[in-house]
Amino acid sequence: MCGIIGYIGSRQATPILIGGLSKLEYRGYDSAGVSVWNEGASRVVRCRGKLSGLVEKLTKEPAPGTMGIGHTRWATHGRPSDENSHPHKVGPISVIHNGIIENHLALRQELSAAGAKFSSETDTEIFAHLVAHALTAGAPDLTTAVRRSLLKVRGSYAFVVMSDKEPGTLVAAKNSSPLVVGLGDGENYVASDVTAILSETRRVIFVEEGEMVVVKRDGVTLMDFEGKVRTREPKTITWSAVQAEKGGFKHYMLKEIHEQPRAVADTLVGRIDLEHDDVSLDGIELDVSKIKRVIFIACGTSYHASMVGEFLVEGLARIPVDVDFASEFRYRDPIVGPGDLVVAVSQSGETLDTMEAIREAKKKGAQVFAISNVVEASIPRLADHAFYTHAGPEIGVASTKAFTTQLIGIALLAIHLGRRTGSLSKERARELLAELIALPNKMRDIVESGAQIQAIARRYGNATGFLFLGRGSQFPIALEGALKLKEISYIHAEGYAAGEMKHGPIALIDEHLPVVVLVPRGPSYEKTVSNLAEVRARQGKVIAIATRGDNEIGGHSDDVIVIPDTALELQPILTVLPLQMLSYYVADFKGTDIDQPRNLAKSVTVE
Ligand code: F6R
Repeated sequence: MCGIIGYIGSRQATPILIGGLSKLEYRGYDSAGVSVWNEGASRVVRCRGKLSGLVEKLTKEPAPGTMGIGHTRWATHGRPSDENSHPHKVGPISVIHNGIIENHLALRQELSAAGAKFSSETDTEIFAHLVAHALTAGAPDLTTAVRRSLLKVRGSYAFVVMSDKEPGTLVAAKNSSPLVVGLGDGENYVASDVTAILSETRRVIFVEEGEMVVVKRDGVTLMDFEGKVRTREPKTITWSAVQAEKGGFKHYMLKEIHEQPRAVADTLVGRIDLEHDDVSLDGIELDVSKIKRVIFIACGTSYHASMVGEFLVEGLARIPVDVDFASEFRYRDPIVGPGDLVVAVSQSGETLDTMEAIREAKKKGAQVFAISNVVEASIPRLADHAFYTHAGPEIGVASTKAFTTQLIGIALLAIHLGRRTGSLSKERARELLAELIALPNKMRDIVESGAQIQAIARRYGNATGFLFLGRGSQFPIALEGALKLKEISYIHAEGYAAGEMKHGPIALIDEHLPVVVLVPRGPSYEKTVSNLAEVRARQGKVIAIATRGDNEIGGHSDDVIVIPDTALELQPILTVLPLQMLSYYVADFKGTDIDQPRNLAKSVTVE
């Protein structure tokens, strides 16, 4: 997830690009850059770090000119560095990109064999080479060169391309990543979202999937990838700048809940190897003969993802798993050594407890595999292997899309291990890969059914406590549901293994206690239904999260929220969504500060 902007007109481009990028920093902030055309050539200025670093650099190396493109990056391929910052320039071509080029390795090899020299580790630079190559191979203009290049790339993208040789034209294209054109008077804009251009214009055209747009000073032309021109009426944006930043959602948390299908799809890009019924961990190859045990270490929500990891790794790879809080692990002189694979899970990649636990594990000879959402953060740098989720920056303090993409990362790791221990057959792996690919659409199905969950939240929003119950891999989801609710609504909530309820918490149940029961289809379905009946017998209010098509559950519950069916191993990735939404709507009903709940910070760098 990155922020992109382009401008063409008669005013100086740089201040407009920087103004736009300052509104886009929430989309990525590990580096920024601009390319601005002036008198026959474009000048690229880019810089690792926050936008303020680029602004400072531009005061020393100004980039005058009336056409330009700008980018703020959230690294996916290649660490944050000056060289990996966008725009990427190859010959006369400057390119900015938001998204992931899935076939980047094959294209890089092909282009290298044809003599291309690369100056970055990014997938984006490949596109600049493709366009430059298409022009030398005879494409009559930039638009044709971009179109021919698009035919070669697979993945998710919004590109904006500029050529030194064709001043007066910006060419942009979209597949899965957002792109909007802003219409001015004798000037036009293109951006990843309206926030970037709202201070300049409110007349916009949203570019749709599989469309290109040629942006000139005096007009814009929309077309499909075959060059067939399309027409679309501009829309006038009535959102305030703050609303626009949140994509029209009331809070970042709600926006991020809705972004999960996209975040999961991006995390899967390039990692599914259907040809070999296997996964690719970005070139990491773990030697399972040396792994006697897997130990997950993490904190908070990442700890809950790790608990699901226990089921995934033990179930698919049949390797014994321990899960520990990082803050406990490091202080109990853990028995850990060379036979252990320590999996450190952290969305921020900066949590101090997790970092110190890794140091402890490494000191004792274990190898460490980190799962992080931030490229080159301290934790992945400290680990022996770093695997990145591609959720994009998460602004809401309560973790949502970082959690579901962690579950994807852990599922991929479990499949990788399972295929290598031999306990996961090709056939089962194939089924699981197909289910993973189908997940984003199923997730969309859930996040788009907010009205029912909002109504339930209003009904129970005044409760003083909630109980969440689940069995097996739904138990960590019960814990996660309780954590989400307490951190943003300040209502006390507990997560319990459903079978444990009768050993104590059953005493809490009365007509005032809403009990959320995770009861998707599966081997513990009947047992969980019995627990649910026990709650109802004591007048507890039951909200069941069940599989679509379950006709029985309605008879045992006050409310049923249905989720689509999926493989048993992947159910937690779906069942957590209604819980995130329930917490969100309860907190919204109570009017708490959802994106910045009291006492909490996004990155916990103290012990
Ligand atoms: C809760 C939440 C926290 C974090 C925890 C660990 O919504 O976000 O519980 O999960 O502070 O943070 P990371 O994953 O950055 O190590």
